[in-house]
Amino acid sequence: METKIIKIDKENIDMNLIKEAAELIKEGKIVAFPTETVYGLGANGLDERAVEGLFKAKGRPQDNPLILHISSIEQLKSLVLEVPDIAYECMKRFWPGPLTMIFKKSHIVPYMITGGLETVAIRMPNNKIALELIKEANLPIAGPSANLSGRPSPTNAQHVIEDLAGKIDMIIDGGETGVGLESTVLDVSGDIPMILRPGGVTLEDLQEFIPGVVQDLGTIKSDANIVPKSPGQKYRHYAPKADMFVFTGNIDKVVNRIKEETSILIKEGKKVGIMATEETKNNYTQGVVFVVGSRENKESIASNLFKTIRLFDEKDVDIIIAEGVESDHIGTAIMNRMMKASGGKIINI
Ligand code: TXA
Ligand code: MG
Repeated sequence: METKIIKIDKENIDMNLIKEAAELIKEGKIVAFPTETVYGLGANGLDERAVEGLFKAKGRPQDNPLILHISSIEQLKSLVLEVPDIAYECMKRFWPGPLTMIFKKSHIVPYMITGGLETVAIRMPNNKIALELIKEANLPIAGPSANLSGRPSPTNAQHVIEDLAGKIDMIIDGGETGVGLESTVLDVSGDIPMILRPGGVTLEDLQEFIPGVVQDLGTIKSDANIVPKSPGQKYRHYAPKADMFVFTGNIDKVVNRIKEETSILIKEGKKVGIMATEETKNNYTQGVVFVVGSRENKESIASNLFKTIRLFDEKDVDIIIAEGVESDHIGTAIMNRMMKASGGKIINI
């Protein structure tokens, strides 16, 4: 299949191009689109056949449910059975934005979307291209991250091209995404609001007005005894081709340990990648060193994490050694993705 690639400037949107993309969605075709978190792989969320195509293109297990993207709160009402007060609060504060909420689904939402569950995940992305596309298609758009299953999520159109060119109908190039990690998934369908996947809207942000909100332990601990509550969290995600290790703790000790490990590995003939930060980069004199961001500004680390993992893959390193960050605020989401990318190989020193 030939994949059409179009460029749209999010500050000066060409509505003719949006219409062309929306037409494809309405016809049951697949269009990758930018959001503020990562690129999504869009299809008509009410069309089982179109949604099946998404799973196929990504190579994604069908029991892993998808998020429906909407552009207005009006659109939400037909998709869910009830909207708890707490969800209205969240929408007021965080929509459009990197927060997905899980509701009890209405009958019009196909089980193909929900992986057979009675609940559905919904979010309003904070990206003008995405919002215009949804509005123009006049449909909820199913949107898993636009990567091949198991690969790091795409934060620019080039990443989508690498993974999916030839497998989907269109890619909208709308530049770099921003947040860089997928949205926070908050389950508001039960009695206790629970974070099933940490993201740009943090536990601390939510605690300010939902005192009882909890975080699913499966998202922060790599313990085989803790089964994550969100189907997606059980799969090994974001896996680089190389083996990855993450060191956390006092940063001076972490740097020294990474230098020691790197020396040993290089002597063994391994090609080593070091995921460093602005503050520490000058300490490393061996290995392939990429700076992921600044420890002073963890949002910058979130924004570049997946891109940096892809860069190491391009350099064909055998092993990636990364510095961890404090697991609070956006750091919780960063460490969750590092945990998954490394298959749980996080060493606290
Ligand atoms: O930022 C994002 O959320 C991106 C952009 C494109 O919007 N999308 C994204 O979709 O990350 P995906 O499919 O890669 O991740 C959806 C996550 C999965 O972990 C899935 O298991 C969870 O949401 N999920 C979806 N429906 C659910 C449900 N009914 N109950 C529990 N978890 C659900
Ligand atoms: Mg994904």
